[in-house]
Amino acid sequence: MSKITAVIDFGSQYTQLIVRRIRELGFMAKLYALEDFDRLENPGAIILSGGPKSTSDADAPDIDFARLKSFGVPVLGVCYGMQLLNIKHGGTVRASNRREYGPAALVPEEPTDALFDGVSRGSQVWMSHSDTVDRLADGCRVIARNAEGVPVSLRWSDSMWGIQFHPEVTHSHEGRAILKNFLGQAKDLARFDIGDFKKQLIAEIRERVGEKQVVCGVSGGVDSTVLAVLLHEAGVNMRAIFVDNGLLRKNEADEVRANFARMGVEIETVDASERFLSALAGERDPEKKRRIIGGLFLDVFWDAVGNAEMLAQGTLYPDVIESASNAKSKASVIKTHHNRVERVLELQKQGKVLEPLAELFKDEVRELGASMGIPHDILWRHPFPGPGLAVRCPGEVSRERLDIIRECDAIFIGTLRKYGWYDKCWQAYAGLIPVKTVGVKGDERSYEFATNLRAIVSEDAMTADWAELPIPLLREASNRILNEVKGINRVLYDISTKPPASIEWE
Ligand code: XMP
Repeated sequence: MSKITAVIDFGSQYTQLIVRRIRELGFMAKLYALEDFDRLENPGAIILSGGPKSTSDADAPDIDFARLKSFGVPVLGVCYGMQLLNIKHGGTVRASNRREYGPAALVPEEPTDALFDGVSRGSQVWMSHSDTVDRLADGCRVIARNAEGVPVSLRWSDSMWGIQFHPEVTHSHEGRAILKNFLGQAKDLARFDIGDFKKQLIAEIRERVGEKQVVCGVSGGVDSTVLAVLLHEAGVNMRAIFVDNGLLRKNEADEVRANFARMGVEIETVDASERFLSALAGERDPEKKRRIIGGLFLDVFWDAVGNAEMLAQGTLYPDVIESASNAKSKASVIKTHHNRVERVLELQKQGKVLEPLAELFKDEVRELGASMGIPHDILWRHPFPGPGLAVRCPGEVSRERLDIIRECDAIFIGTLRKYGWYDKCWQAYAGLIPVKTVGVKGDERSYEFATNLRAIVSEDAMTADWAELPIPLLREASNRILNEVKGINRVLYDISTKPPASIEWE
């Protein structure tokens, strides 16, 4: 029987990327919280992820080593995982407050270990760690060093390897080949196929939902659309609700209704814009704004459907990891996404939240959507955050400010489409910079806000680069905004990468 590759989560921001890379290599992989390690059965290979803790911390995550060895399958420790394996084999790790973050050169020892088969000498790998391996365990071999001769990869036995760097991030140029080499050491690994994956998701949904009624919030974005179509295909008792929260883009409500009509999925619209805007009035704190919106979403659903028994959300993996509010996650909080607020977590504890897409990245969701026949233009709409324009309107949100954003955004997106750049960008928008500056409009002094145009390229929204848009495109968008949008006298193009910036301003 074919076996899955198990990735054990020690809390790195990148853990799910490992799972995804394995799926990309064509193998079935599953993420396990450390607490669930004792439920792991019959894996074909095991990867121990990195993590933010130091192995010397009192509460350092640990693993049942006897059980790990008992499977007799290839094990790869990444970063924290490598340090832990060295300790488990009888070696030591030196704690350090200094962080090594960034590129390093990988120099495999001769003769090259199977892990680095075909990998070029000096290949760039990505480091992100503080502690380092100190004394090597007896019988441990160094199989690669960095350019300074420091060990960056160890092998303790026929089936246990460790690497100090992160092969899962794209900055490790040949990381994929290293993971492939590792998987090549395993036997009978299960293959990944999107059709099989869809069947598996549908079976899991049917089993969890049974006869219960599921409320599904749809936004028109890729995630909730794929979710609604998946629930529709699973044939469960579903009500799909579209909330107009007053934080939508220009003409968005009409477009969403038209798209669902095209796919034959019935949706109900609730106009709650007044409720959202009055709840947000005067609030400036980004996290509080997010919480207000997340809480109200639920109120509105519940008001609309009475005592629904389950809530379905199109939560994707980056939402889970960046909120780090997954009860079992060991990662640190960056932003609270609207679908990770406390009330949702409370419902989650009661087993009332269904999140079938929570292990997937956006491009995988698109692939799933395409396999269900969702039209290309719907799947390739730019992502739009749940809290909508509120996170593009730093500080206080008001109808007037939102209207300004809507007009700027429509012009910018229209210009991107005109120049053929919409599909080249992962995401693009215009936001508001709520600072008034002086300008001249006509012969008059103007004292108005600025707008920030943001257009980014990305693979998965975990990291992003700003798009090198053609100057004529920027000039046209800027000219039109300055001429047509009342309330704006300055246009800025945001050239910040993520990290350290994020895609949205809040
Ligand atoms: P950041 O701003 O964290 O955004 O770099 C990463 C991606 O997530 C989207 N985003 C959200 N999506 N609910 C969502 O559904 C949210 O609360 C939320 N906040 C950010 C953002 O648009 C980008 O694609």
